[in-house]
Amino acid sequence: MTTTTRTRALGTTGPQVSALGLGCMGMSGMYGEADHAESVATIHAALEAGVTLLDTGDFYGMGHNELLINEALRTAPAALRENALLSVKFGAQRGPDGEWYGFDGSPAAVKTSAAYSLQRLGVDHIDVYRPARLDPDVPIEETVGAIAELVEKGYVRHIGLSEVGADTIRRAAATAPIADLQIEYSLISRGPEREVLPTLRELGIAVTAYGVLSRGLISGHVTDGQQYAATDFRAHSPRFQGDNLRHNLTLVESLRKIAEEKGVTVAQIAIAWALSRGEGIVPLIGARTRGRLDEALGALDVTLDAADLAAVEAAVPADAAAGERYAPAQMAMLDSER
Ligand SMILES: NC(=O)c1ccc[n+]([C@@H]2O[C@H](COP(=O)([O-])OP(=O)(O)OC[C@H]3O[C@@H](n4cnc5c(N)ncnc54)[C@H](OP(=O)(O)O)[C@@H]3O)[C@@H](O)[C@H]2O)c1
Repeated sequence: MTTTTRTRALGTTGPQVSALGLGCMGMSGMYGEADHAESVATIHAALEAGVTLLDTGDFYGMGHNELLINEALRTAPAALRENALLSVKFGAQRGPDGEWYGFDGSPAAVKTSAAYSLQRLGVDHIDVYRPARLDPDVPIEETVGAIAELVEKGYVRHIGLSEVGADTIRRAAATAPIADLQIEYSLISRGPEREVLPTLRELGIAVTAYGVLSRGLISGHVTDGQQYAATDFRAHSPRFQGDNLRHNLTLVESLRKIAEEKGVTVAQIAIAWALSRGEGIVPLIGARTRGRLDEALGALDVTLDAADLAAVEAAVPADAAAGERYAPAQMAMLDSER
């Protein structure tokens, strides 16, 4: 397994974290069934390899993901457990059949959700706590203000945001120190470059970038004709459908040529590109097996010089992807897309 000691600062007020974080969502069913023992082994392998940042959400498998992380931490060597920094999202309202009921960012929901998460994770504090989406009925000042109270009491160390736009970021940062914004950012999702990234840079806020492999689409491992279960995100993602998928896979084949010339993999090029976008960007890698994790960590050894970056951007121009990054109902929930 590739190891790393590389770190990046989570903004001017947040902690130093490993340059790549492990996103644990896929271990709780978002991309079809995951193997429990392999998920735990992947978290252990990540911690052993020097990954310190673990990202989760209380609604990933409705508590399943937090309990999985609890198990992995309990069964990891103490020294590794102590290095782990937990980033947790809350607010998504879902029923037992997986139906979505919007987002609750009210102060009571903030504190109740945190109390449950602390129990499920088996920890006395959460390192970064963030609303998964903006609750349109609750001013961001109230949501952030409630997390700030949890910071004062020691239950939370730092405040993060997720998928919000520049105005909301400014309002949140005027309320309390914000460590990072979590947002989808990849070779084929470059929307944040317009307004969000410059705002974050100005305010000293980092990015934990998700979807760096576009849910596997630009990993080099997806082929046309792959079947996804109805509960798999990819079964409904516009970018994975029909002609969109065929078009998007031609972009991947262009990337593959560059990867092969450099003797690396497509996923490593995509992750190395995200790392190259600035010191304030920490890619979250959605590996759920040790094999995928090892491949992702290998990206830390890939250097893209100016000529490489130009070739990558020529292979995958900024607006080249076909299809939106979410289905319409989920796009409508993104303050970052307004
Ligand atoms: N704030 C938000 O709104 C939000 C939204 C989504 C995710 N997130 C967070 O970000 C994390 C990462 O996001 P993501 O899962 O969408 O992103 P991703 O890393 O773009 O995609 C992950 C998928 O790519 C495939 N893959 C292929 N090669 C890989 C490799 N070498 N390393 C890792 N994955 C590889 C895997 O599928 P196979 O195993 O099938 O190959 C994996 O399930 C999540 O776990 C979650 O913590 C946050």
